[in-house]
Amino acid sequence: MHVLDWQVLPAPQERRATTFDYVHQYASAAKHRLELTESGFAIRFEGRIHVYRNQCPHAGSPLDWQPGQFFDEDGQQLVCHTHGARFHPATGAYLSGPSCPHGLARLPFTLDGDLLRVPARIAGVQ
Ligand code: FES
Repeated sequence: MHVLDWQVLPAPQERRATTFDYVHQYASAAKHRLELTESGFAIRFEGRIHVYRNQCPHAGSPLDWQPGQFFDEDGQQLVCHTHGARFHPATGAYLSGPSCPHGLARLPFTLDGDLLRVPARIAGVQ
């Protein structure tokens, strides 16, 4: 995956999330280019920022309970609203619930004070 362009957002507070959209360019073997708008989310957990694609590896739906709501009631795990799969906030690893083939997909980011730089446009396989 290559980041082609970035966007700057306010960094989330502890156990809060910031959501964003980005354009993902896919290239086929026939050199056709497909662009899809996808969404991501940034969280702060135990003081550190983590950024993931907002797509559950179980069945592909967004994770948010309600827009921007990713944490469980204890603020210890991320929960997919569709069927209840749970993930570790710091690693994105699958923890429990409906079987997932892998954990959450990470997205690149940089943090400068309270400003978070996340992808606006990426290319390639994620
Ligand atoms: S789509 Fe997330 S648990 Fe099923």
